[in-house]
Amino acid sequence: MKRPLFIAQQSARPSGLVGRVIAGIMAHETADLNERALRLLRPSPFDHVLEIGFGHGRTIERLASVVENGRVCGIDVSESMLAMAVRRNRRAIAEGRVELRTADCASIPFDAASFNAALSVHTLYFWSDPIACLTEIRRVLRPGGRLVLGFLGSDSARRNSFPTQVYTFHEETAVSAMLTAAEFRSIEVSRVGDASLILSMPAEVRTQA
Ligand SMILES: C[S@@+](CC[C@H](N)C(=O)[O-])C[C@H]1O[C@@H](n2cnc3c(N)ncnc32)[C@H](O)[C@@H]1O
Repeated sequence: MKRPLFIAQQSARPSGLVGRVIAGIMAHETADLNERALRLLRPSPFDHVLEIGFGHGRTIERLASVVENGRVCGIDVSESMLAMAVRRNRRAIAEGRVELRTADCASIPFDAASFNAALSVHTLYFWSDPIACLTEIRRVLRPGGRLVLGFLGSDSARRNSFPTQVYTFHEETAVSAMLTAAEFRSIEVSRVGDASLILSMPAEVRTQA
């Protein structure tokens, strides 16, 4: 059965009470993939980490428990998710260890080379221009930084189950090609059930001889 358009739209940009309820359910449903993404990212206590599409803010909370001496930042297009994630992380925000903002990944409100790690789980489907978003993520990553993307790939059953007005699924090879176009090099690809995780790093900039 096709996921109702209204629910799909709420997953893409949760809003209001319904958005908070859906995000609460999502926090449980996506916990495993987010944990695996964190394991692949391997944040250190001194890292500066950016999460794109933090939603409920559970992964921000997990990051803040590890990154004790660095900084955890997050962006999300949804004002409702900002409020929910701020509530969940209020202590770390008050301590100045976490900073959350509303923003689209197509225009990330942080300076170039601000972070040495970034992750985004279950958000790629909603990016209208994935290469532009990945290029922005690359801009805010330092040389040698890491990016972990977690996503469900494209297959016909999935494409038929989610409204195409909201969800665009991409095959793993297509995501690797997008990363290359945005000047990342893929380091490791792994599977978690139906989902894929890709660890990548900014490709080295070639200097002319
Ligand atoms: C399906 S939820 C995933 C939340 C969380 N990452 C997880 O794995 O549970 C997608 C989230 O990405 C946010 N989002 C969608 N498009 C975005 C964009 N272009 N830039 C930043 N955030 C976006 C939505 O508002 C929503 O909170």
